[in-house]
Amino acid sequence: MTNPRAVDELRTRFHADFENANTPQALQAVRDQYLGRKNGAIAALMKQVVSTSPDIRPTLGRLANELKRDIEVAIAQRQSSTTVTTDTQDSVDVSLPGRDPILGRRHPMTILREQIEDIFNRMGFAIIEGPEIEDEYHNFEALNMPADHPARDMQDTLYLNEPFNGTQSQAQGQAKVLLRTHTSGMQIRYMENHEPPIRIIAPGRVYRRDNLDVTHTPMFHQVEGLLVGEGVTMADLKGTLEIFLRELFDADTKVMFRPSFFPYTEPSAEVFIGCLFCDCDGCNVCKKTGWLEILGSGMVHAAVFEAVGYDPERYTGWAFGLGIERVAMLKYRVDDIRLFYENDLSFLEQFPR
Ligand code: DAH
Repeated sequence: MTNPRAVDELRTRFHADFENANTPQALQAVRDQYLGRKNGAIAALMKQVVSTSPDIRPTLGRLANELKRDIEVAIAQRQSSTTVTTDTQDSVDVSLPGRDPILGRRHPMTILREQIEDIFNRMGFAIIEGPEIEDEYHNFEALNMPADHPARDMQDTLYLNEPFNGTQSQAQGQAKVLLRTHTSGMQIRYMENHEPPIRIIAPGRVYRRDNLDVTHTPMFHQVEGLLVGEGVTMADLKGTLEIFLRELFDADTKVMFRPSFFPYTEPSAEVFIGCLFCDCDGCNVCKKTGWLEILGSGMVHAAVFEAVGYDPERYTGWAFGLGIERVAMLKYRVDDIRLFYENDLSFLEQFPR
């Protein structure tokens, strides 16, 4: 005859066996012994419950089911815990320090953009952003690059809404939409909505129809700078860029300005820094010149002021544009621009967090 005490005794026996089961094999044996379908102790108990007298059958049935569930839970919990065994091959040394979680990090382009933003922020420049999908007016026309300007060629620009057939689109008067080829359009966008004095930088992605090679990617990053006011001179441009470049690279970086041409500045200047690798002596990186070209700049062209409704007799200003990838390649001495976009962690992990 089965009674509640018999269930208690079975529970006690199970616990004794369970405590002694120190290996996965022993635990499995205990499982078979108690939960085995045919010959397990619980199966036997259930059979007895069925044949017991109706007055105690419900109580006994409940107790037997509780015991069965407790045994199942106890065994399952220990099977899933990793510390069940003393078998050294499968065991986990809980005294070992944990593994560091793999932390993400900022992309080198982000690190540099934030550094550049920080330097200009401290000089009182606001940081603005604008659309990467641009129209011809802001990307070219208002920057003194009329329809026949070579920079507007399909060869260089990624147009979004038109197969190559420039004349037809002009005839239809359809506005062409493009991926901005430089951040200079942000000068126009900002001046259209603001009055001088202006001090801004505009970082962002730009796109060109270039094939991938060691120095070209179809998408890269620029930072545009613009300062407009009354009595602004080229000396301000030189002073500001010199401070900027010395903060960005090194306190005694040499800076050189050389006359150049851009349609939206007059006069224009290319800015060079003394070669970081040979101290101006001439090496492979600077192609034996001792200088590295770093940005384009100049005094804002009167035609640009006229396009945004500023009086060029009253206001003067300067602008510059620089490629962040170029800065990164020089600063970290990376000789292939494509590395920045291959998402190879062993490359990306070498940059500061
Ligand atoms: N937009 C030029 C480029 O993409 C860079 C540049 C040159 C920007 C001179 C300027 C500037 O604002 O004054 O190469």
